[in-house]
Amino acid sequence: VREKLQGAELSEAATKAFLHNYGKLEGGESGLIPEHDIEAVSTLPSLAELVEQRQSDDGGDGVGDGDGSATTTRELLSKTIVLKLNGGLGTSMGLEKAKSLLKVKGGRTFLDLIADQISSLSSGVRFVLMNSFSTHEDTIEALRQSRPEIANQEDLVLIQSKSPKIDATTMEPVSHPKNPDLEWCPPGHGDIYPSLLGTGMLDRLLDKGFKYAFVSNSDNLGAVLSTDLLGHFASSGSAFMMEVAERTEADKKGGHLCRRKEDNQLILRESAMCPEEDKSKFQDVSTHRYFNTNNLWLDLAQLKHKMDECGGMLPLPLIKNKKTVDPRDSSSTPVYQLETAMGSAIECFPNAAAVVVPRSRFSPVKTCSDLFALRSDAYNLTADFRVELAGAAVPVVKLDDAHYKHVDKMERLCPGGSPSLIECKRLTVRGPVIFAGSTAIKGECEIVNDTGEPEELPPGTYEDQTVEL
Ligand code: UTP
Repeated sequence: VREKLQGAELSEAATKAFLHNYGKLEGGESGLIPEHDIEAVSTLPSLAELVEQRQSDDGGDGVGDGDGSATTTRELLSKTIVLKLNGGLGTSMGLEKAKSLLKVKGGRTFLDLIADQISSLSSGVRFVLMNSFSTHEDTIEALRQSRPEIANQEDLVLIQSKSPKIDATTMEPVSHPKNPDLEWCPPGHGDIYPSLLGTGMLDRLLDKGFKYAFVSNSDNLGAVLSTDLLGHFASSGSAFMMEVAERTEADKKGGHLCRRKEDNQLILRESAMCPEEDKSKFQDVSTHRYFNTNNLWLDLAQLKHKMDECGGMLPLPLIKNKKTVDPRDSSSTPVYQLETAMGSAIECFPNAAAVVVPRSRFSPVKTCSDLFALRSDAYNLTADFRVELAGAAVPVVKLDDAHYKHVDKMERLCPGGSPSLIECKRLTVRGPVIFAGSTAIKGECEIVNDTGEPEELPPGTYEDQTVEL
C-alpha cells in the first residue's frame, strides 16, 4: 500500500488519512453505534431564532468574533471563504464529469449560478472549489469561458487527493492494466481536511488572515452564505458548526445527529453504523429529529490546531464501499473504495455546534427526478440566485429508473424540457415517456407506457389522472 501511495506522490496528509482508513479496513472495525450508547438531540437553536436575536441585540450588524472584539458583518465576510465541493463524479446520475456543469435554469449551470451567488454578495468573499482529478479540467475550462475573472482568481482550486481501490480478495491495491486510471477513486468529501492541509492551502489562508470557511455541496443551490449564520458562528467561538434540518418520513433512512452518552459529544450516525436491532429507533424521526445538510462552518485556525494535535490528520469514521474496479463492468475485480464524509468530523470537536435551518437551504440534486423537477416552473431563481419553490408544494417526482436514471437518457426523453409542475403534487412515470412540450401536470398523476418503445405524451393539461399510452 505504501509503495502505491508513494508512486502517486500523495501528500503526507493524504497518505496519513489513507493509512488510517486502511488500518480500519484491515482491523475489520465494525463502526457500529448502538442506540444505548447515544442520546437524541432535542433542542438546538434555529436560524429564525438567531435572526430575531441578532436584530434585537444590535440591528444585525455588530457581532463578537469569538476573541472578544466587536466586528461588523463586512469585516467577517472579508475573513471568510466559501468552499464548494465539486469532486464527486455524479455516478448515480450516469455522469463521469462534474455534476456542477449540468444546466439547471435558463441555460445556466450549477457552476454559473454558484458564481452568480458569490458575485451577488456585496462584500467580496474568497471563493474556493474543491475539485478531484476527474472534475478539475472540465470545471476550469467552463469557468474560463463563462467567468474568466473567477477562473483567474488566486488559490481558486483545492485539488483533492485520490485513493487506491483495494482488491477485496487480496486486500492489496488493485491492479487494472487495461485502464490504470480505474485503480484510483476520489476519497469522499472527508478528504477536504487532508487536502486543505496537504496542499498548504490551510496555511496560506491563515497567513492571509482568513478565519472562517462556509462549505457546501455544489449541487445544493440552497446553500448560499448567510450572514446571520456567519455572525452566530463567529461569536460562538466553535471550531465547527453543522446546519441540520428536520427529518421527515422521507428522510428516515438517512443518517441523523445525536450525542454520544460517554462524553456528550455531538456525532453523526449513518445507516451503515446502526445495528440491525436498532433500525426502528434509527428511523424514528420524532426521536432523532435532525439530519446533516452538509452545509458546514469551520474555524480554520481551530481546524489546523486539531489536525496538528492528531498528528496531521482528523481521525474520521471509515465508509467502506464495495464496488467493482470498472464500475461499468460488474464482472471486473471486486474492490473496496475507502471514503470518509466531511460532516463526520463533528465528532472531532468538543465545542462543535449545530443549528436548525429551513429546508430551503437544502435542495441537492441526487437523481434525474430531482433535476427534472428543478428545471421545471415549480422552482424559480431568486434575485440572489437561489432556487426557490414557486408553487404551494414540492412536487414529488418519481421517474422510472430503467429509462431516466442517466442524464443523457432523461434529456433524450424530454426534448421540450420539463413539463409545467407548478401545480403538481406527485408525478410518477413508468416506461419511456416523451415530454415534447406545452404539457402541464397538476395534482397527482401517473403516466404509464408499457409498450417498451418511447411514446410521446400528447401536449395538454393532465390533472389527478393516470394516463396509459
Ligand atoms: P455525494 O456523495 O452526494 O456524491 O457528494 P455525488 O458526486 O453527488 O454523486 P455520486 O454518489 O457519485 O452519484 C456530495 C458533494 O460532495 C462532492 C460532490 O461533488 C457533491 O458536491 N464530493 C463527493 C467531493 O467533492 N469529493 C468526493 O470525493 C465526493
